[in-house]
Amino acid sequence: MKPKVLVTRRIPETGIRILKEHCEIRYRDALEPMSREELLKEIRDVDALYCTLSEKVDRGVIDAGKNLRVVATMSVGVDHIDVDYATSRGIYVVYTPGVLTETTADFAWALLMAAARRVVEGDRLIRAGGWRFSWAPTMMLGYDVHGKVLGIIGFGRIGQAVARRAKGFDMKVLYYDIERREDLEKKLGVEYRPMDEILREADFITLHIPLTPQTERLIGERELRMMKKTAILINTSRGKVIDQEALIRALKMGWIAAAGLDVFDEEPLPTDSPLINLENVVLTPHIASASYETRSKMAEYAASGLISILKGEVPDNLYNREVLKIRPLSDVKMI
Ligand code: DGY
Repeated sequence: MKPKVLVTRRIPETGIRILKEHCEIRYRDALEPMSREELLKEIRDVDALYCTLSEKVDRGVIDAGKNLRVVATMSVGVDHIDVDYATSRGIYVVYTPGVLTETTADFAWALLMAAARRVVEGDRLIRAGGWRFSWAPTMMLGYDVHGKVLGIIGFGRIGQAVARRAKGFDMKVLYYDIERREDLEKKLGVEYRPMDEILREADFITLHIPLTPQTERLIGERELRMMKKTAILINTSRGKVIDQEALIRALKMGWIAAAGLDVFDEEPLPTDSPLINLENVVLTPHIASASYETRSKMAEYAASGLISILKGEVPDNLYNREVLKIRPLSDVKMI
């Protein structure tokens, strides 16, 4: 009998093709995420779950999946999954590291440039009929990017890819991570600094950290007040790593100059959020990895990882390696 897989919502065809080859798929071909009620119901009899970061896979969901052997998420972040609990239950978790690195780094730069040079504000101005002179010496002044100091907080794959791009802008690049990467400093031309020093010194600060209990609200009022008044903060990681209320105060009161945000405390961003009325913030709807090429790769990588587990093989995108000791792959194998 073929393994049963629940796919919670529409994904690129590349992923579906791989799953179809080996499994019986229950495919919810819809744009919106699956509701918790539906997830609790649909997961009951499946062997594998293929989900996205918008579905919370907590204890309740994991417990409801009586036959569950593997959870594949089409994301590099796994903060929506109770991984410790899944591991304790012998459930394998696969994710999509690496394939979205460059695309996400490109987008962090898009936000940085847009916020520094007021690209979105300029667009809004024209559309609103507010462009009155062909050129004006003091109109819509922004901040130079070239030659400035870039501070990268979180120096994993994406942080490093952002650093590589800074070369062309002749920037001084500082980074902070819980693990100092001396091996990369010379090669990438970056300098390690404690986080507080980066906050004080950098003109642009970009966040590339996973959301964990340790990183939740890492950037709060204290940190925002330490930044330069001309600083610009970019976030493409997870909204909850910033205290969003404090950031709103910082943008309103001029503790920092601007921000570029792709992720938020609550997503979708509520339409009454004060962020929406602020001119000095560029807002995008969690699309840093959203290129045709990368989303196809993500769909494929999560699917192939899921299939490997069901074949009794260890894929390189297995997140919770400890699970191998709890439930051997021979127990999980179905294909
Ligand atoms: C992820 O993969 O975790 C991103 O936030 C979306 O691509």
